[in-house]
Amino acid sequence: MRWRFWRRRTAPKTAGAEVILGGRRYVTDAPYILPKDLGEINRLDFQHFMLRSFLHANFLAPVGQPHDILDVGSGTGRWAIQVAQQFPQANVFSLDIEPPQARQSAVVEAQPDNCVFVQGDVLQGLPFPDASFDFVHQRLLMGAIPGPRWPDVVRELTRVTRPGGWVELVEAAPVAGNGPALHQLHDWMVQATRMRGLDVTIGPRIGDLLREAGLQHITYHDLPIPIGAYGGRLGVMAETQYDALFSGFRPILVARGMTDDAGFASIMQGAHAEIAQSQLTSPYYIAFGQRP
Ligand SMILES: C[S@@+](CC[C@H](N)C(=O)[O-])C[C@H]1O[C@@H](n2cnc3c(N)ncnc32)[C@H](O)[C@@H]1O
Repeated sequence: MRWRFWRRRTAPKTAGAEVILGGRRYVTDAPYILPKDLGEINRLDFQHFMLRSFLHANFLAPVGQPHDILDVGSGTGRWAIQVAQQFPQANVFSLDIEPPQARQSAVVEAQPDNCVFVQGDVLQGLPFPDASFDFVHQRLLMGAIPGPRWPDVVRELTRVTRPGGWVELVEAAPVAGNGPALHQLHDWMVQATRMRGLDVTIGPRIGDLLREAGLQHITYHDLPIPIGAYGGRLGVMAETQYDALFSGFRPILVARGMTDDAGFASIMQGAHAEIAQSQLTSPYYIAFGQRP
């Protein structure tokens, strides 16, 4: 797809409504629950490198040499930039609800000419014609897509995929521990996200969602990333990532009266102790399918 075929369905926004809670910035005009600030950019970059180090790749779908690639939910944009570098002949679009200027990590990795960042809301439909892309990728939007909207969103990803093209989804789930602190973190995350209609248990169903959207040749994998020192460098990365994820939830939990700063700190300390005592995993899920 050439750039000129790209069109917006909705008027461009310059900045969304936001609120500052406990020193973290959150958007208020979308269901998205995680912070949008420098701390979160650092966490997302860190998580990107953790996933790439586990998979030894940025994606698993057998995409061949795609001409047009779409990434939904750019985050820091690092996935799109690296994939644009991997396929210099391809056009890579990366879409996020926040305007491209809000992406602050591009200072570290220059944006290649074949990579463009656009603003859009996947819950309102993608601003692209049918069958525009050979590869459509969406990673870690469980904190953004309300549970009942998942089938629509996956159908929308499928709509913009060409026949023979691939859709890949990656999601995660809270760590399922066997002690009280990890149970509490799990419950807080499920409760806080449910209040926004989100479903953080969607991960294991992503293969089924692709199948229900009409895709074929579905491949689904659990990615049981070790968490804690027993998992070596990757395990330490996963624990650091988990800590940073919950520090993004802390202001929301406190604002909703679910805990206070001292209660949160004590649970986090307990969670690290439980992680040190067991060989747990931080679950991620990946699935891809081909449009007939
Ligand atoms: C958890 S981050 C994941 C970012 C990136 N995909 C990654 O794996 O690092 C989710 C991203 O989705 C974006 N987002 C949230 N709601 C969205 C929506 N309705 N449409 C498009 N992007 C959205 C957020 O701004 C954020 O950048």
